[in-house]
Amino acid sequence: MARRSSGIRGEYERHGVQDYYAQRGADYRNPHEAAVQAALAESVARWRLDLTSVLDLACGSGEATLALRGLGCQQVEGVDPYTGEAYRQRTGLFAAPFSFEQIAAGALEGRRYHLIVCSYALHLLPESRLPLLCYHLSRLAPALLILTPHKRPHLRPEWGWTLDDEIIVQRVHCRLYTRQPH
Ligand SMILES: C[S@@+](CC[C@H](N)C(=O)[O-])C[C@H]1O[C@@H](n2cnc3c(N)ncnc32)[C@H](O)[C@@H]1O
Repeated sequence: MARRSSGIRGEYERHGVQDYYAQRGADYRNPHEAAVQAALAESVARWRLDLTSVLDLACGSGEATLALRGLGCQQVEGVDPYTGEAYRQRTGLFAAPFSFEQIAAGALEGRRYHLIVCSYALHLLPESRLPLLCYHLSRLAPALLILTPHKRPHLRPEWGWTLDDEIIVQRVHCRLYTRQPH
């Protein structure tokens, strides 16, 4: 008999990632929020990240946004196709409802940020979709910070991003990428 996974991985297997967040997005909370906070604080301090304006990509219920605010960031915008209500409740901000696929088709074209943060989300996208998304992200900001509890994803220079450094904080992999010159 096939073993069924428990927790969020089991939910993804039963419903599919998109359906899971489409149905449950309004109630989404990351049980590892304290680790996200610690990972962001350490990353910002270690790499002296510029928080003048930040895009919180796949912003959930604002885990990264709230942590960034706590670190002094005054201009952060969230984007997430499923969790807008949860994000608004916790941050008071509107999240632009774009998916990775829409961003890969240019939905955020013309916007500019100093930093993109993507916490606990980019591993959800199949690797074949990463190159185009990465290209479009590289048009938005010169730096990209990925927080993930997983080994994936690893972005490649040919997709527009170079890995500068990686640290692990409370089991969260923090990877800082900088944009390749265009
Ligand atoms: C595990 S949650 C992480 C949320 C938050 N960043 C955090 O650190 O807790 C994954 C997020 O990815 C979003 N997501 C799922 N599929 C997506 C897609 N195709 N495009 C963009 N976001 C997606 C979900 O709505 C959810 O907010």
